[in-house]
Amino acid sequence: MCGIVGYIGRRQAAPILVEGLHRLEYRGYDSAGLATPEADGFRVIKTEGRVQQLRNLIKEEIPATIGIAHTRWATHGEPSDANAHPHLDASGRIALVHNGIIENADRLRAQLTADGVVFASETDTEALAHLIGRSEAATLEEKVREALSRVEGTYGIVVLDLDNPGQLVVARNGSPIVLGIGESEMFVASDVAALVRHTQQVVYLDDGELAVVRADEFHTSTLAVEASPVVKSPTTVDLVVDDYELGGSADFMSKEIHEQPTALSRALSGRLNERFATAHLGGINMDPRELRAIRRVKFLGCGSSYYAGQMGAQLVEELARIPADAEPASEFRYRNPVVEADTLYVALSQSGETLDTLAAAQELKRKGGQLLGVVNVVGSAIARECGSGIFLHAGPEVSVASTKALTNTATSLAMLALLLGRVRDLSTADGKRIVAGLRRLPDQVAEILAQEQAVAEVAARFADTRSMFFVGRVRGWPVAREGAQKLKEISYVHAEAYQASELKHGPLALIDNTMPTVIIVPDDELLSKNIGTIEEIKARNGAVIAVTNAELPEGLADAELRVPRNETELDPILFTIPLQLFAYHLAAKLGRDIDRPRNLAKSVTVE
Ligand code: G6P
Repeated sequence: MCGIVGYIGRRQAAPILVEGLHRLEYRGYDSAGLATPEADGFRVIKTEGRVQQLRNLIKEEIPATIGIAHTRWATHGEPSDANAHPHLDASGRIALVHNGIIENADRLRAQLTADGVVFASETDTEALAHLIGRSEAATLEEKVREALSRVEGTYGIVVLDLDNPGQLVVARNGSPIVLGIGESEMFVASDVAALVRHTQQVVYLDDGELAVVRADEFHTSTLAVEASPVVKSPTTVDLVVDDYELGGSADFMSKEIHEQPTALSRALSGRLNERFATAHLGGINMDPRELRAIRRVKFLGCGSSYYAGQMGAQLVEELARIPADAEPASEFRYRNPVVEADTLYVALSQSGETLDTLAAAQELKRKGGQLLGVVNVVGSAIARECGSGIFLHAGPEVSVASTKALTNTATSLAMLALLLGRVRDLSTADGKRIVAGLRRLPDQVAEILAQEQAVAEVAARFADTRSMFFVGRVRGWPVAREGAQKLKEISYVHAEAYQASELKHGPLALIDNTMPTVIIVPDDELLSKNIGTIEEIKARNGAVIAVTNAELPEGLADAELRVPRNETELDPILFTIPLQLFAYHLAAKLGRDIDRPRNLAKSVTVE
């Protein structure tokens, strides 16, 4: 969602700002803009549409060496040039970019309007710009502090003041802000992706912090009106600009699908222990006694992370024989959940920023729940909130549709399940079987990816379909849900996931020759049941695409997507891969904007 870039230093700001916005495009946005100071006011260039359109509007060199820029995802007010950020105060001397939502914006706008302020946009952000501009405090820092004391909601902001042109004031409450430290220059962004081209030295602001940033220094303090200084040391990010480049790939989704064997190897590296047939997860900070005391496991996440959680719950029940389930974090946070002392809660998030998952983690901590995070982005809000857990080591995931992060989440949860099992009753032999199975995964994923052309041909055959079912039983059920999600989000073809066992309790009524079904058919104890389901569908003239590692009767399915054999417990990890390729090629055939599906964002940082 919304992206922020700020620069102060020796170089011209505008090209750095625009390039930074380009790096943040993957997050999803609908308009873009920038502001730089000039002798007699701000130069503000903003537009609905893509960063490229903003670039086209910059007709001449802009000499300013300080500036702020933004990509907006509409919340208050439709996407439009006027609603795009930056926003100015009434005097035109304060410019502001903002991520997040100001919840009392309506009240603030009404008060400001009553005081004679005329609004130029429908946004919540503009109210904050006016509050800062109207503050009578002595310095910009104090003006920002005073204005924010009247604001309820979430924000990451960067403020520029024409009367103090040597500084940026930034603040954070709920929306990420990171400072990048260069040589006599400083960068500000909502995401390190915008900085890594320039510096690897960064400082993450925490919620409730403010920073005054100058070209060669920064000062951090608490946001309270009675502020106290906060000492923050820079950390080094090990990301490089190549992580955000396409290389030879057509798009990021394809690049990330093909990175899975390497990403998986990284997730497994150093974490499998053959001798004791278990997993070694150094980041969870729990000893065997604490692990044995757990009576239940609950996974919380949104979207693909939630489906990975469902796969994890099944693995925990099978390997550790502890009751486990997954729940959308977005639901959990609002239903006043019962938090049990002997339940292990696990927050799952690729970005580590998803607001619903972060809020669920905060609620759990408030109630004293035991919490782990399974997160990709090191230093992200959820990683820091959880304090301990498992990093995914998937590398940056840019495409909105999650692929390698989901695979690494499910694999990390398999290791957690193995560990929980091995401190209980999972035998050494079964532990060894799972360890060996996990070790085979990277090569087997590569084997599936090598059949991409065959999957693409199947996808092309079904590209004119308007709606599809995805069905699976038990281990196959979250796979079906994830497969349907992938297809929906990038191809816009309607897809509905159902438990195969429930098909005849309603959805079968929809099956005819226009409604194909993708069915997950592992060679496991439910094989004959799944074959029965295929026959029921075929009897109603429905086409069937089977994702399978079984030898199905000749001609039973209309198409097969083949998966190598591993241990049945690990099947969901492998069965997800052909469905990524299927969705990808179907969307490509339909000419969709694969990395940036309409209406969706990579990191959903608002409710
Ligand atoms: C958004 C994305 C999904 C993603 C979900 C959770 O809805 O479009 O692809 O699965 O957020 O994201 P997270 O970063 O928390 O895993």
